Amino acid sequence: MAKAGARAPILELAGVTAGYGEIQVLWGIDMRVRAGEITALIGSNGAGKTTLMRTLSGLLPVRSGTYRAAGIDLSAARAETILRAGIVHVPEGRRLFGAMSVEDNLLMGAYLRRGGRGEIGRDLDRVFHIFPKLYERRTQAAATLSGGEQQMCAIGRGLMSAPTLLMIDELSLGLSPLLVEQLVAALRQLNAEGVSILLVEQDVTIALDLSHSAFVMDMGRIVRSGVSSELLSDPIIRDAYLGVIED
Ligand SMILES: Nc1ncnc2c1ncn2[C@@H]1O[C@H](COP(=O)(O)OP(=O)(O)OP(=O)(O)O)[C@@H](O)[C@H]1O
Ligand SMILES: [Mg+2]
Repeated sequence: MAKAGARAPILELAGVTAGYGEIQVLWGIDMRVRAGEITALIGSNGAGKTTLMRTLSGLLPVRSGTYRAAGIDLSAARAETILRAGIVHVPEGRRLFGAMSVEDNLLMGAYLRRGGRGEIGRDLDRVFHIFPKLYERRTQAAATLSGGEQQMCAIGRGLMSAPTLLMIDELSLGLSPLLVEQLVAALRQLNAEGVSILLVEQDVTIALDLSHSAFVMDMGRIVRSGVSSELLSDPIIRDAYLGVIED
């Protein structure tokens, strides 16, 4: 586990609000995410987790408050600038280009990079090393992949953007326990190689087991945060999100 407080925060949010048109969804988000860690974002349906990830990736504007990543102010930054800063979003639903091959989908992740072919080729090899299934299926159309393979492809595409922070929305949705186990192992490996990860995961046990720290959202606010292992044994969390009723 990463040492607490040893590094500058990779994300620093203060009073961030955001929403869609007239509808305000985020009501003043305060959050510090440490570099080098896996951080989980949990909360019930409609809490605002996806909206927060969309705001962090610049798909939705920050309406008020400040958003900094590794000390850089991104409060008014466009999605492209945020991506170049290494904040990479793997969206819910995966959003692959179905008719394109697996390899071309992966290369789409590198289209904003200035790095030369050599660097991009090395990263492609790294993705194939982490997800050997994708190598086997590299010439196949993405639409023909299984759900788990599509998730691997979406994460692989994110990795091709050279992330410092990889944000994954709904890691395990619709996947078998075995596939989830493989993905969890892959994420641990990536994290060990230095990629910080922010994860939205419905399965709170998986989320808290995989992460170092976690934030709990409810109705557009952060209502709890802390060390994941401590949250896992917190009676309120167990009752609300793990379906465990304490005596
Ligand atoms: N495009 C949109 N236009 C208007 N309201 C939206 C839009 N997308 C989401 N919302 C609303 O914002 C709120 C938060 O939604 P969001 O998708 O961020 O929740 P979530 O925590 O990701 O939920 P889930 O666990 O179901 O994915 C919900 O009330 C939702 O109805
Ligand atoms: Mg969501």
